[in-house]
Amino acid sequence: MTSQFSKKSEAWSARFSEPVSDLVKRYTASVFFDNRMAEFDIQGSLAHAEMLTAQNIISAQDYADIQKGMTQILAEIGSGKFEWLLDLEDVHLNIEKRLTELVGDAGKRLHTGRSRNDQVATDIRLYLRSAIDNIVTLLGDLRSALVDLAEKNAYTILPGFTHMQVAQPITFGHHVLAYVEMFGRDTERMLDCRKRVNRLPLGAAALAGTTFPIDRERVARTLGFDEVCYNSLDAVSDRDFAIEFCAAAALIMTHISRMSEELVIWMSPRVGFIDIADRFCTGSSIMPQKKNPDVPELARGKTGRVNGHLIALLTLMKGQPLAYNKDNQEDKEPLFDTVDTVIDTLRIFADMAGGITVKPEAMRAAALQGYATATDLADYLVKKGLPFRDAHEAVALAVRTCVDKNCDLSDMSLEDLQQFSGLIQADVFEVLTLEGSVAARNHVGGTAPQQVKLAIARVRAQLK
Ligand code: ARG
Repeated sequence: MTSQFSKKSEAWSARFSEPVSDLVKRYTASVFFDNRMAEFDIQGSLAHAEMLTAQNIISAQDYADIQKGMTQILAEIGSGKFEWLLDLEDVHLNIEKRLTELVGDAGKRLHTGRSRNDQVATDIRLYLRSAIDNIVTLLGDLRSALVDLAEKNAYTILPGFTHMQVAQPITFGHHVLAYVEMFGRDTERMLDCRKRVNRLPLGAAALAGTTFPIDRERVARTLGFDEVCYNSLDAVSDRDFAIEFCAAAALIMTHISRMSEELVIWMSPRVGFIDIADRFCTGSSIMPQKKNPDVPELARGKTGRVNGHLIALLTLMKGQPLAYNKDNQEDKEPLFDTVDTVIDTLRIFADMAGGITVKPEAMRAAALQGYATATDLADYLVKKGLPFRDAHEAVALAVRTCVDKNCDLSDMSLEDLQQFSGLIQADVFEVLTLEGSVAARNHVGGTAPQQVKLAIARVRAQLK
């Protein structure tokens, strides 16, 4: 008898009276993108087969044959010799078909007690778990590179901005550490999401479970899952773990994008706070003088596509009745592209952080404009006994005078300053300097160089 499961026919062909058209075949197939899960598909199949053997559902010989066949298939995939066939729709059927070619009946027994629905849900979780582990490592690399940059600039002063207007002097180290905090929370989110990714759907079969005496805990242990999914309908149908991952990824990209925006502004010749190593920039085909910060700009742009993938997955899920629907095949491309984009971006940014040249003179010159120490003067008056609101008013008048005279607060003479408050004495000039201003903000979370160093030590201890 010729097998129903031959190369040109499909797993279910006996039920059908005509083949699908080429267009429908192409439309419904996923093999050319889901084959990236091959390694995880095989891992899941081996754990399933091992359990079937332990439960006496298939023989030890079958399991040995399956292991042998899968070893060869892995090698074929690794060397690029594996022939992926559109006719076989997806990664699962392609591998199962090749296994059967290689080892015969044992290959045909592999699918006992499972369905592609729980199989694919398992594969995605294995794939995503590995991607998350990768991303967590890369977030650590990026944080570590940023901490190095912060350390070199614990004393470098630049203006801090609110509303893009000069607000108060800050240290560049402190500014960089703000991103280290963001990427720290991104790491927490990834690890938290991992807990819900790391549960085993296999055993749910098509939707209702299986009539075979399976041992799901055993498979979970073999595959390193923390526990099993406790409802078979939920196990095969929900992709909330992938949505959650994309939300966490979108936040990573949002933080990257904010940082990119600042890098672009800082590198503009009008600002000139930093330079980015040439290997992250490109020139212009028409303007010979140009050096453009392409990498930060592209990262800012790619944030849009990751945000889009999150919306795609939410939309994919929202109208689906229980349990599995083919809609879910559409979860893969957005998910894969999110993983690729985040991984590439983090790798490049960790490298780029080490390729930033800081220009302390330009930062300092900017901090000396815009009355960045006005709050320090107000705080000085408060410490001499003036209520804060009155101090605020006195300094506002002083700033207005400076604007008219086109000078800085620290350029005024003591007598000039005393016009605004009799409480002002010679020690005022200490608080009007940039160094005095940043050093005075010396408490947890403040910008003082001393605090920057403590923050760096705290992050380094986390990163160990
Ligand atoms: N390629 C499918 C997917 O990605 C595998 C599951 C197919 N199941 C089914 N009943 N058609 O979701």
